[in-house]
Amino acid sequence: MSGIPSSRVAVVVLAAGQGTRFRSDLAKVLHRAAGRTLVRHVLEAVRPLDAGQVVVVVGHQAEAVTADVADAGLDRLDTVVQDQQLGTGHAVQVALDGVGDADWVLIVPGDTPLLTADALSRLLAAVDDDVPAAMLTAHFADPAGYGRVLRADDGTVERIVEHADASEAEREVSEGNAGMYLVRRDLLADALDTLGDDNAQGELYLTDVVAVLRRAGRRVAAVDVDEHVIAGVNDRDQLARAAAALHAAHLRHLMINVGVSVVDPATTHVDVDVEIGRDSVLLPGTLLEAGTTIGERARIGPNTHLTACTVGDDAVVHSTRGEDAVIGAGASVGPFTHLRRATRLGAGARAGAFVELKNVDVGEASKIPHLAYVGDAEVGAGVNLACGVVTVNYDGEAKHHTIVEDGAFVGCDTMLVAPVTIGEGAYTAAGSVITDDVPPGALGIARSRQTNKEGWVARRRG
Ligand code: UD1
Ligand code: CA
Repeated sequence: MSGIPSSRVAVVVLAAGQGTRFRSDLAKVLHRAAGRTLVRHVLEAVRPLDAGQVVVVVGHQAEAVTADVADAGLDRLDTVVQDQQLGTGHAVQVALDGVGDADWVLIVPGDTPLLTADALSRLLAAVDDDVPAAMLTAHFADPAGYGRVLRADDGTVERIVEHADASEAEREVSEGNAGMYLVRRDLLADALDTLGDDNAQGELYLTDVVAVLRRAGRRVAAVDVDEHVIAGVNDRDQLARAAAALHAAHLRHLMINVGVSVVDPATTHVDVDVEIGRDSVLLPGTLLEAGTTIGERARIGPNTHLTACTVGDDAVVHSTRGEDAVIGAGASVGPFTHLRRATRLGAGARAGAFVELKNVDVGEASKIPHLAYVGDAEVGAGVNLACGVVTVNYDGEAKHHTIVEDGAFVGCDTMLVAPVTIGEGAYTAAGSVITDDVPPGALGIARSRQTNKEGWVARRRG
């Protein structure tokens, strides 16, 4: 497929800038689109190339960016630090120290989250012994902000002019620079040495390398790709558009390639790393965030927001908020249920309306149908926690544990004052405040006995 083997290529990812146009305290490349940071999207496009080396240039918030890119788990990935961000040309100068013995350098910006491996491999296919450099370009409906590609009379690329430096006539050019180039390393190093900062932004422009190569009699091939693939994200408006495109593409993939029904794609947001099984249905108002996995034939929504949750086959999750929770196969949750961190609902279990669960393991086929808070607890299989059950897990200083063993029936409005254990098959009477363990098979009653005052009403009215 490619003109040169990828093992001879070092990929340089530019991720040192602050991203002034974001007006953010967070480095631009760490902002997320569809659940993934911008720079990680770029690394996912780079990953399939299996390049000899990947060098990420970090600078602004270098530590956080370094940690984020390390999490991508790419082989042969290094970072180099650009202490002062003097421009994209300067960033590549710094990067060259880290590229090892690669003969070719593939440069990509860290702010193009829609980039695909396919577009990059087209660069690899465009170079050879006679063509020592290639770049990606696109024809933009609105090229504002992009460098413009200026071509000679014979149609070959002559130079790139930055938007800020372009004349009125040059701004009319719709062909924009993607900021992605593949250049023979020796020629790149020489060209970078000649860069100056006499331009509108007082920076060392990487884009000037194209004109330098050209003047040295070298050809720079231009590979035209779809404008959406190389769209750069410089501000939050572009971030929102990129996220929308990523969400839409992922939904399409789930519908077409997997067989997931999405009733209303316009109100359904599924982050790019979320996997969903065949014949599952997403109802309107569903937001599935990073780290979530849904099995087959599940029914999610309407109005459900899950973050880092695992949902089993055939489960039904309706109007629910879940964070770091596991919902077993065939379980039923909602409407109006809050599953907080470390909740595990076993297969066929049920958590119903106005139930909040936290750090609790609920066994198979157990039911918590309405109005309950259960936290820091272990609930066995086949348990019924009736309406209004509360684990009183906090004494103002420390959290305590509750255990409800298999087959127990905890009556309505029972307060389980932890630490406490309800034994296997035991019952508690409605309205009890249970402070002592209830042995297996026993009935725990902890409330005052009812007395009826005969004739009390008539006497009171007197
Ligand atoms: C750049 C190109 C422009 C192209 C556009 C495509 C230049 C001069 N301009 O403009 O022609 O159309 O990308 O998206 O190259 N960075 C560093 N160190 C620096 C400066 C920038 O690492 O000193 C990084 C940034 O973090 C960013 C990337 O380089 O990820 C691109 O920088 P940015 O400022 O976004 O360039 P654009 O103005 O978009
Ligand atoms: Ca940019």
